[in-house]
Parts: sequence; C-alpha cells; structure tokens
Amino acid sequence: MSATTRSRLVVNGEAQIFSGDPRRTLLDFLRLDLRLPGTKKGCDHGQCGACTVIVNGRRINSCLSLAAMHDGDEITTIEGLGTPDALSPLQRAFIGHDGFQCGYCTPGQICSATAMLEEVKAGWPSVVADISGDNPDITDEDLSERMSGNLCRCGAYSNIIAAIREAMGAKGAAE
Ligand code: FES
Ligand code: FES
Repeated sequence: MSATTRSRLVVNGEAQIFSGDPRRTLLDFLRLDLRLPGTKKGCDHGQCGACTVIVNGRRINSCLSLAAMHDGDEITTIEGLGTPDALSPLQRAFIGHDGFQCGYCTPGQICSATAMLEEVKAGWPSVVADISGDNPDITDEDLSERMSGNLCRCGAYSNIIAAIREAMGAKGAAE
C-alpha cells in the first residue's frame, strides 16, 4: 500500500481536496482529478509553459509542482479567468488579434500573461529592462523576455504580443 497525502486547495474559487499519491503533480491533479482540461501538458519537463497556472498570484509550471505542496493555496487556471460569455481582457484580446493557431499553448500563454502584467504593474525588472522608475517603457523585446517561458509551436508570437499590448492598454501595439 502506498502512502497518501491530503491537502486542501482553492481552485478557481472552489475548495478542493487532494488526497492521494504525494508524487502526483499539480498538473495531473487539475486535469485528471478535477477534470479541468484547459491547462495543457506539453513537455512535462518545465520547458514549454503549456501547463502554466497562477498560484497565489504568481505564475508557475504546474508540471513541476506537486499537488501535495499546495495546501491552502489559491490556484487559478484558464477556466477561472473567464467564460465564453465573460472573457477576460486577455482572452478577448487573443481572439481579436489572432493570438493563436492550434490553441494548444494558449491557456498557458494567457495565464502567464495575466500574472506577468501584475508583475509589470508592481515594477518587477526583467533581464531586459528595469522598469522600477516612473513611466517605464515596456518594449516588445522586454515583453518577449517576460513571456519567454511560454513556447508556441505555431509561431503566433507577434500576435500574442499585440494581444498583450491591447490588454495593457498600451499604444503602439504590434500589428
Ligand atoms: S508541460 Fe509544464 S512546462 Fe511543459
Ligand atoms: S497556437 Fe499552436 S502552439 Fe501556440
């Protein structure tokens, strides 16, 4: 008999209990146990970002995290950001700018961008730019760096940047 672990998580605003193998990843818990298929499994090795979810406001790769580690945490998946009738600003912008082709990477891109915009608001620097001063200039290069943990096999990057810029309310969105 294998050991089991129990933890209580809040997923998209609803309390959920994880009880099972302590090696179960957060990604598998979300997709297989809670039947939330929006979060995608791409590489399963922390390299593609398809599995990105937001934990207590921070974006993480759910394939590299164990469900048992998240007792008391608030998890937001793409299903928690908006619905077809009430899309989040980023979801709307991705559609408006054709920010996806196959759509496989899209939930992770949108979760990542949602948390990334909060990081920008908080003045977090990236490798490319220190934006801690007044009126920081967020360049496309800086946005690309901030989103570099999310790969898109279809190469929809320029439209993704345009969508993020629209959601930021910034001028000069890429075409
Ligand atoms: S599936 Fe988690 S980073 Fe690729
Ligand atoms: S839209 Fe196909 S992988 Fe990004």
